[in-house]
Amino acid sequence: MTSPVPSAAASTPQPEQTPGPAAARRPAPHELLGLTSPAYGGDYNPEQWDEATFAEDLELMAEAGVNLVSLGIFSWARLEPCEGSYELDWLVEIVDRLHDAGIAVDLATATASPPAWMAADHPESLPVNADGVRLGFGSRQQYCPSSTVYRERSAALARALAERLGDHPGVVMWHVGNEYGCHTAECFCPACAQAFRAWLADRYGDVERLNTAWGTDFWSQRYTSLEQVDPPAAMPTFHNPAQLLDWRRFSDHQLRSLMEAEVRILRQRSTRPVTTNFMGDFPATDYWRWAESLDIISDDSYPDPADPAAAHEVAWAGDLMRGLAGGRPWILMEQAPSAVQWRGRNSPKRPGQLLLWSLARVAHGADGILQFQWRQSRQGAETFHSGMVPHAGCASRTWDEVVSTGRALKRLGPVLGEPVRAEAAVVLDWESQWAMSSTIGPVGFGERFETARAWHRSLWEAGIATDIVPAGADPGADLTGYRLIIVPAILIDYPGLARRLEQAVAVGTQVVVVGPSGVVDVNAGAVLGGYLGSLRPLLGVRVTDHAALSGPVSDDDPRGTLVNRLSRAVGTPAAESWTGLEAAGEPLRRVLDRMGTPTPDLRAGGWAEEVRVDEAPGGIEAGWGGEPVEVVAVFDGRGGGTDLAGRPAITRRAVGGAGSGWYVAADLDALSRAALLKLVCAHARVRPVVADLPDGVEAQRRGQVLFLLNHGDRAAEVAGIVGTDLLTGKACTGHVVLAPRSALVVHCAPNTHPLTECNPDVKQ
Ligand code: GAL
Ligand code: ZN
Repeated sequence: MTSPVPSAAASTPQPEQTPGPAAARRPAPHELLGLTSPAYGGDYNPEQWDEATFAEDLELMAEAGVNLVSLGIFSWARLEPCEGSYELDWLVEIVDRLHDAGIAVDLATATASPPAWMAADHPESLPVNADGVRLGFGSRQQYCPSSTVYRERSAALARALAERLGDHPGVVMWHVGNEYGCHTAECFCPACAQAFRAWLADRYGDVERLNTAWGTDFWSQRYTSLEQVDPPAAMPTFHNPAQLLDWRRFSDHQLRSLMEAEVRILRQRSTRPVTTNFMGDFPATDYWRWAESLDIISDDSYPDPADPAAAHEVAWAGDLMRGLAGGRPWILMEQAPSAVQWRGRNSPKRPGQLLLWSLARVAHGADGILQFQWRQSRQGAETFHSGMVPHAGCASRTWDEVVSTGRALKRLGPVLGEPVRAEAAVVLDWESQWAMSSTIGPVGFGERFETARAWHRSLWEAGIATDIVPAGADPGADLTGYRLIIVPAILIDYPGLARRLEQAVAVGTQVVVVGPSGVVDVNAGAVLGGYLGSLRPLLGVRVTDHAALSGPVSDDDPRGTLVNRLSRAVGTPAAESWTGLEAAGEPLRRVLDRMGTPTPDLRAGGWAEEVRVDEAPGGIEAGWGGEPVEVVAVFDGRGGGTDLAGRPAITRRAVGGAGSGWYVAADLDALSRAALLKLVCAHARVRPVVADLPDGVEAQRRGQVLFLLNHGDRAAEVAGIVGTDLLTGKACTGHVVLAPRSALVVHCAPNTHPLTECNPDVKQ
């Protein structure tokens, strides 16, 4: 049948461009905020308290070394008690008094939660969920991002605050909204449906192009007018993946436009830098795009003290924020002084952890450490969320640790503005994540960049400093400065990214692509002729099929088969919990032999692919030399995945003798990732920040400052540390001992051990 629609190539929109973060072109936070030591403080909500408490707050803030507070985040109801009539005097008075006390203000536009009058008088401003239920007032963030009244009233409030306080000497920064999308990332109301259609009209021009992009000939989904298109609300069965992907793009765009509108208003009336608080790798918002509008990147981060891998969460979010800031420092806008209240079980921070994690944030590039919140609330949904001043008052461990953290940060002036330099990078792409969660099969993918996190964690566990960089389209960031680049499950095929990776490999970089990558186009349509798409010339392989495995914990694991008398007789590859891999060459075999672990073998679970090595890789694209593809490991049929036995699992294509493109066709377990990284890092000449550290000790450095962070429960000894301990002012002359959950911050003289000797190859 001949299709009456234009060809896909002609109508497929190119990915939106993600240029380098604008924050990279702006001054560093400490210059913008006039800091001489890292910012320290928290969300401040004095309207919840009386005058006597306010006076006490000022004294306690001085004692804790607070120099910055975020004010007014949830104050809309007090600032505009009736629609259009403002009461700002009380806020001005608070800013005056804080300023007199030497405490600077990060002033919120207060638009995070509209007051009761908006819900009552304009019920259409309330958001609607996918089941068509309009959500009620009495919680927070109850606004539809397309609501005209919300847009008008939030803009007017931002304007009123900017006009009144935009040049107040006590206001040093603007805090737009609060955690956009945290509770309401999408809305299915008629206004949003209309806005979605307008967004689609903008993207596709006409309905035929949309039909082509979305593949609506499948399941009789053809539209004859854009007016027929609805948001992907509740439906009988699977959504159209392209519709879902566009819906996620639209929802991100809609929220972002709220932030951008406020930023424009503030910039017209105030010269103060602008931020909004991010939430790490929050799935709904493409922060590479959000960062474009901001002067300062800030983050809210709540690792679970009960999670043994919580310190990796700190590192992951920190590296991501630094990436979003274009390599510049950023600010931790919120962390819990101790426990949160929103998990099923809310563990308090362990002794020492507030300071340790604060310093870990600084080590990963933060120049400010703020908490949620200053004083623990007495009422409301967050009554049992910790505060810097706890319910118990100052006779408490939390308060003691708040004070000692403030004192420690005061001493870190030499760190301000200093860069973190990394030789390794992990690529992170929100659109690919959206494509993954919009795509149906071959396995259900998670929402939180699981593959990227896993590989970043392996690098972190190995002590290797790592940047996080965008996949972007053309022109994207130059990647040739990295010795090692991980491309972890970047599902969308980006020709621009492939080109930049080729450029890096050509100058000697090791690129490790991890599947599933290059599987779909920007409309979630499958790449034909073998997955990996534009990455194929670089890797010299193509993926010819996916093989889903069940993942490490399943009823069908070896324990399950002891009791599952009926199903244990049935062998299907997808029922296996893991699959074995075998080194196919000497180098990897040697690495495994040397690792000295009880089971130095390779395993994967959850994901494996059928890979075919291209016989003439050089023929795919002119100019690629034709170097042979080396099979580094094969599936060996142990565990499960027997149908793949003998097929390539890890490949490497060397280019010009120096750089190479590696492909990993399975989600390796931690031990296997570590083994492979040893081999790849040897090729890349990437080394840990400090070699041979004891268990639990992380090393990071910013300029001449070395951070040693002991996350472990035991004291740890490190040799060869020479410099000045910034926290105590004492000299370190070699051997240092770190108590459990403690840190050392050493200012090393230029060109002395350990900064140069431990990592002499770092490009400065
Ligand atoms: C954040 C939010 C704060 C507070 C905090 C509690 O999501 O921005 O207002 O609710 O969580 O952990
Ligand atoms: Zn809506």
